[in-house]
Amino acid sequence: MKFAAALSALCLLAVVPAARAADDAAPLYRQYCAACHGGDRLGGVGPALVPDDLGHLKPAQAAKVIAGGLPGTEMKGFAGRLSPGQITALAAYVFSPPAAEPTWGMAQIAASRTGPADRSPLPAKPPFASDPLNLFIVVEAGDHHVTVLDGDRMTPIARVPSRAALHGGAKFSPDGRFVYLMSRDGWVSKLDMWTGRLLAEVRAGLDSRNIAVSADGRFVLVGNLLPDSVAVLDAADLAPIKVIPVAGRDGRRSRVSAVYTAPPRHSFIVALKDAREIWEIPYAQGPDRFPVRRIATEEVLDDFFFDLGYRHLIGAGRDGTRGEVIDLGTGRKVATLPFDGMPHLGSGITFTWHGRPVFATPHLKQGVVSVIAMDDWSEVKRIPTCGPGYFIRGHRNTPYAWVDCSLGPTPDEIQVIDTRSLKVVRTLRPAPGKRTAHVEFTRDGRYALVSIMENDGALVVYDARDFHEVKRLPMRHPVGKYNVFNKITYAQGTSH
Ligand code: HEC
Repeated sequence: MKFAAALSALCLLAVVPAARAADDAAPLYRQYCAACHGGDRLGGVGPALVPDDLGHLKPAQAAKVIAGGLPGTEMKGFAGRLSPGQITALAAYVFSPPAAEPTWGMAQIAASRTGPADRSPLPAKPPFASDPLNLFIVVEAGDHHVTVLDGDRMTPIARVPSRAALHGGAKFSPDGRFVYLMSRDGWVSKLDMWTGRLLAEVRAGLDSRNIAVSADGRFVLVGNLLPDSVAVLDAADLAPIKVIPVAGRDGRRSRVSAVYTAPPRHSFIVALKDAREIWEIPYAQGPDRFPVRRIATEEVLDDFFFDLGYRHLIGAGRDGTRGEVIDLGTGRKVATLPFDGMPHLGSGITFTWHGRPVFATPHLKQGVVSVIAMDDWSEVKRIPTCGPGYFIRGHRNTPYAWVDCSLGPTPDEIQVIDTRSLKVVRTLRPAPGKRTAHVEFTRDGRYALVSIMENDGALVVYDARDFHEVKRLPMRHPVGKYNVFNKITYAQGTSH
């Protein structure tokens, strides 16, 4: 009781001077925000609050967050403690450039690294009867957890807390035993799929785009926006091996849009956001040599797709009006592709149509799926769908590909395309009025798992042959789910 009274007196003391203070944001920041967001605004418990890291928000939206908080997180609203003027000043302040250019190099990365809390040995055999390669990792953004899902029985086997704002997709070790996750503010976490145990964590950047795991399982590459770099980590314990600053041929720094692994080439591929080039970083030469091969492009290309042999890279630029096909062997452009709806190549899939290898991509600004032949790079078909969307998914054991239209007028619909006729054959609406997207198949392609992307969301499991619902698993905003086998085999029908 006494303690509570003392606490509220303290709070009153804190409120009065703040309310009287001038709307100068820096002292307010130090008093109210620095404890969680860092004295240098580079993050702590809360994410970094610097312009590079807030691209997804507008100052008015940031003000809303500061006033009202983010429900279910440690970010509580400040409307009772700060005046509207102070909140507006703080919202502007977090969009101002930080006093010093942030540094985040080898030393900072190494110092951030932590090992497992539980040092007992990991089980040598799966502690469950199901197929360990038919597990899924489900990223639940609603309350920052990941769930390991047994894909044979469709039951969760572990649910563990994760960093906030995971993105870029989960990546597995080549044997499927471990999963690597990355948060927007640069934390990389390694988990054991069989137990859900956290094995290591490291902050590889301050604002990061995504990660890739080398085909030999030895390295994790992290692509960063802040600072402009890629960081190579030891996949075993996440210790940093090398930080490569990213700059174009002219010396101008460039942010990284995405990193990819090219298994047959034993290399990583890097998409640059601010330079007209692509980087290839081979890693087979040894742990300390990561030479950069630069491939010049006509446009800035920052979203990639690869053919199954990784001979060709298909890249699209920001304006989304065309694509370039680059032969990775010669480094030359071999074709230009007609796109006008902003393709989301990173989620594209391949399949065989009338004996020809083709790839299909949804668009972020048009309700169509483009189907392009990979033998002569001609457009085979544009399939009209229920609206613009993010994802398409198929599987070699099913003739159907599933697409969402979550950016369109009916975001609660999922459509099924027959890859033989290239026609939409079914429209599903698993949860009317709720945003629905991202489909993943079981190892054998028998079942398709669809996300209801709401806080009280779900994974809806469909029979992939007749599209009837088999099961519904409650999940908190399940933004993505990844099947171990489909991912580690770089299966046709799955984005890599
Ligand atoms: C007790 C810790 C804590 C304090 C104090 C705090 N925040 Fe936060 N804040 C967080 C966390 C954690 C998040 C991320 C929440 C999530 O998305 O899970 C966050 C998120 C935010 C975001 C959204 C960032 C984004 O990238 O979307 C803004 C803006 C923000 N905080 C501003 C502030 C400001 C300004 C203050 C001071 C007035 C403040 N916060 C005080 C913990 C805190």
